[in-house]
Amino acid sequence: MKKKLLGLLLATTMVFGMVTGCGDGGGTSSGGSDSDDTAKVESKEASSGGEEDSSGADGEIQVGIVLPTKDEPRWLQDQKQFETILDDAGFTKQVLFSQGSSAAEKTNVETLISKGIKVLIICPQDADAAAAAVEEARDAGIKVIAYDRLIKNTDAVDYYVTFDSVSVGVAQGQYLIDNAPEGSDIPLYLYAGAVTDNNAFLFFEGAWSVLQPKIADGTFKIANSSEAEALKDKAELTRDEMSKIMGQVTTDWDFNAAKSKAEAHLTAAGADVKGDVLILAPNDGTSRSIADVFAADKDITKYVITGQDSEMASVQYIIDGKQSMTVFKDTRTLSADSVAMAVDILDGKDPATDSSYNNEKIDVPSKQTPIVVVTKDNVKEVLVDSGYYEASEFTGLE
Ligand code: BGC
Repeated sequence: MKKKLLGLLLATTMVFGMVTGCGDGGGTSSGGSDSDDTAKVESKEASSGGEEDSSGADGEIQVGIVLPTKDEPRWLQDQKQFETILDDAGFTKQVLFSQGSSAAEKTNVETLISKGIKVLIICPQDADAAAAAVEEARDAGIKVIAYDRLIKNTDAVDYYVTFDSVSVGVAQGQYLIDNAPEGSDIPLYLYAGAVTDNNAFLFFEGAWSVLQPKIADGTFKIANSSEAEALKDKAELTRDEMSKIMGQVTTDWDFNAAKSKAEAHLTAAGADVKGDVLILAPNDGTSRSIADVFAADKDITKYVITGQDSEMASVQYIIDGKQSMTVFKDTRTLSADSVAMAVDILDGKDPATDSSYNNEKIDVPSKQTPIVVVTKDNVKEVLVDSGYYEASEFTGLE
């Protein structure tokens, strides 16, 4: 069975061509039994939705997957990959979304426990709050794989499958440096992800590690964070220090929050932080919102803005010159790695790992996947030629 599955995983990775449903806010769900496709980004209410149930004849499910929200195209990409791989491999599975709510997440885990899952693959909504949910799973004899985001302060996480998140931040910061205008005091706007997400800290840490020397030597001038300004001479920030900055510039991973924040920043900004500017945007959804706000300001002559996830809408923004870069995190690899781990677990074997992450309670054995920087220059090669998207899904692709 292992051999067959590995072949399938490989085939899926190579052949899987289309990730659909990647418009702003909501999108398609791939035939789930309880799809709430009208869910909008504004409504982060506590409800689970978009579930895909492939229970066996006796209603038992082998692998349960809990993802944070279906309101961001990123997680629909992961959902699609999981469904394809697990279906092809003949596993019974169910994918549930927590819709931005830790309470819904816990209910989702309990639902899956009651269906007899052996392995739980979970991307937590909130790194700390998810501990209680996975402890319930552990107590029911289930193995837990944290997916993409770490679960903190618990020993009930068996494995962690993730991208190299610090390197995502480094890539974003380095892109701004490499594409900055000449001169000094170049305005730099900082934005961050949700403080409940451990990844948001890793992204910020990576970006700060390369941007800080440029801020300290006066090449860049922070435009929108007094806390970052106060800490500009510190090469390495503690978690508390990062929290202070991120508290001021968090988007909460919410497109509308990002838009409002960017509007407020530009309203408050003086002429010294307008003109040609640099923007550290943490992911694609927030990047598009922030970019739209900056594009509409007549005193912004040019902006360079980062992103991550290679969402379809952002790929179009990059082709159109509205977003400068994104980071490709190949969800085909991440989902395949998690499923391969689940198979090992179901076979009674120890899954292979290549790193470990401390979650403030234990060192969690981990598997890391590298990332790729995508710009207008290589977008076709990385995202179309690799079969991740189809050329016909975009306009103006050369
Ligand atoms: C993920 C990103 C995603 C963000 C918002 C992070 O934990 O790593 O890919 O854009 O959450 O959902």
